[in-house]
Amino acid sequence: MQRTLRRVIGSVQLEFQRRRAEKRFPFLREDGERMRPIETAMRPCHASYVSDVSAPGMAVSLPTALLLRRLCEDLRPRRVLDLGSGFSSFVLRSYAASQRDVTAWSVDDDDAWLQRTRDFLLGHGLATEHLVDWEEFQSADPGPFDLVFHDLGGMELRMQAFDRALELGARGVVLLDDMHKPHYSKYVAERLQTQPCCRLDLEFCTRDELGRFCVLLTDFGDPAD
Ligand SMILES: C[S@@+](CC[C@H](N)C(=O)[O-])C[C@H]1O[C@@H](n2cnc3c(N)ncnc32)[C@H](O)[C@@H]1O
Repeated sequence: MQRTLRRVIGSVQLEFQRRRAEKRFPFLREDGERMRPIETAMRPCHASYVSDVSAPGMAVSLPTALLLRRLCEDLRPRRVLDLGSGFSSFVLRSYAASQRDVTAWSVDDDDAWLQRTRDFLLGHGLATEHLVDWEEFQSADPGPFDLVFHDLGGMELRMQAFDRALELGARGVVLLDDMHKPHYSKYVAERLQTQPCCRLDLEFCTRDELGRFCVLLTDFGDPAD
């Protein structure tokens, strides 16, 4: 009985999230037909990435990778950044390759993973400029970004870098992964108390088989719904 009640409450919450997200970003209401060719091309690349390069639990999930690309297609960011390189770098750089004048940066705290990302990008004919070590990135002045995907390092570093991720993405959107982790989710909620912005919970479209899902932050300085 309790389990049934929890399930009902859970689905009402997901429906509420979906409506709120679609109100702010109406393109999320579309059935994704426009994205079908991109999804068809991305699916085998993701499958090979999680079998040959990384692990499914470490790489961005396919639903989140598709959302990332969808945000690119609909918001048309000119400057994109992934903190925590890997398949997300492939997603953002594939979008950059399809446009004129899009700059992509990818950052990692681990040089070995940065190199693996470089090899994967090269293997797919994608550009590898602005692949930067986190230490180096902190002293660089990369300028603001229109879209930031925050997926950096272990969870301690993820939290340490949180304010910087928001600062860098404050003129656009910041997508946070791994919001299923209670400690991180609590940390984010606390930090957002002093950071007016619109928070959209995207569990309804990004929850994967490992329970991971995303939150999207936008309208910084203007939390209006
Ligand atoms: C959640 S992962 C980032 C994943 C990346 N955004 C992607 O889409 O593949 C966070 C960090 O873990 C490291 N990492 C990535 N793949 C890994 C793996 N398979 N095993 C161990 N560490 C990994 C990298 O240093 C990365 O910054």
